[in-house]
Amino acid sequence: MEETLMEVRGLEKHYPVDTGLLTQLTGGQRYVHAVDGVSFDIKKGEIFGLAGESGCGKTTTARCLTRLDDPTGGEIRFGDDRRNIAELDRSGLHDYRRQAQIIFQDPFESMNDRFTVRKWVVEPLVIHDIGDDEEQESRVYESLEQAGLTPVDQFIDRYPHELSGGQRQRVAIARALVLNPSFIVADEPTSMLDVSVRASVLRVLKRLVEEENVTMIYISHDLSLLRYVCDRIAIMYQGELAELGESDAVLQDPKHPYTQSLVSAVPRADPREGRTRIRIPGEVEERIGGIEGCSFKNRCPYRYERCDDDPEMYEMSEREQTVACHLYDADEDRPRPDEERVEDAADAGVGVN
Ligand SMILES: Nc1ncnc2c1ncn2[C@@H]1O[C@H](COP(=O)(O)OP(=O)(O)O)[C@@H](O)[C@H]1O
Ligand SMILES: [Mg+2]
Repeated sequence: MEETLMEVRGLEKHYPVDTGLLTQLTGGQRYVHAVDGVSFDIKKGEIFGLAGESGCGKTTTARCLTRLDDPTGGEIRFGDDRRNIAELDRSGLHDYRRQAQIIFQDPFESMNDRFTVRKWVVEPLVIHDIGDDEEQESRVYESLEQAGLTPVDQFIDRYPHELSGGQRQRVAIARALVLNPSFIVADEPTSMLDVSVRASVLRVLKRLVEEENVTMIYISHDLSLLRYVCDRIAIMYQGELAELGESDAVLQDPKHPYTQSLVSAVPRADPREGRTRIRIPGEVEERIGGIEGCSFKNRCPYRYERCDDDPEMYEMSEREQTVACHLYDADEDRPRPDEERVEDAADAGVGVN
């Protein structure tokens, strides 16, 4: 049986908006439901993709799972003892931070300008008081090598302004690696890099998982990239999961109307393959106060009365696919959405344009 590294259950993160004193005094405090009840398991040794449009809650999820942010609710069970990361005390957090690392999107913000590469990469070892000078130096070398910043001697004394974006991102990877973490969250790590260096940074991350016993969450809005990188993919919409499953299942046979629209918008290598681009009307709203029922209902061409109730993640029979859409409830006898029907809807001018 595949082992589970992390169980996320009902994760929530609500940020206050209108933080003015008057609002607080009058009890009118409102909250953005950035993450609103998300559950999934991460298997040991997999790359788990997290996708969805900008603002859907990917980074907030990442920050909660690595405990840079405190979740508002839910559980994050981690490791063999399944301790709840959501409610660790100080020393528990210190310990968790050795095992869980995050790599951010922006390589130009992620490095202290006054630090050399060496100082930046060794810092986590100093904070955690690991090893003497010699051991620290050798771990820094090893991490920089693993991150592909070679020959290390050529880079180790450089300052950030002497590095390219791709090189900075490799330094960020080395810094994440120096503690030998078992879990890394990579939050759009290549989206700000030149196309020419993306592939090599991706290869570095993939190799970590294949050879170094790292488990990874890889966040991106780029579905074609995720298909290349990930074992399984979760699609987020408005702070909730719309769909989850093996990458090929989600991207080749998407079930949720939202996933179908996302996948249909990905350009194909061969345009003759022909795919109807499904456009969804309406805008992504900021979910102040949360949404009753299905979060996609206001934009969904299949909306019906059940959508006012929260959907569960209905299980498909294959490829670990689960879908948060009532049309996939085994007891539901309405036809399920598929691309053909969406095309029909397009012809009829219904919900799709
Ligand atoms: N620190 C914050 N304070 C208030 N709202 C926030 C904060 N961080 C994120 N949000 C809001 O939470 C939602 C999800 O944001 P985010 O997790 O960054 O999405 P993504 O990474 O998918 O683009 C957005 O509506 C965003 O405006
Ligand atoms: Mg983000």
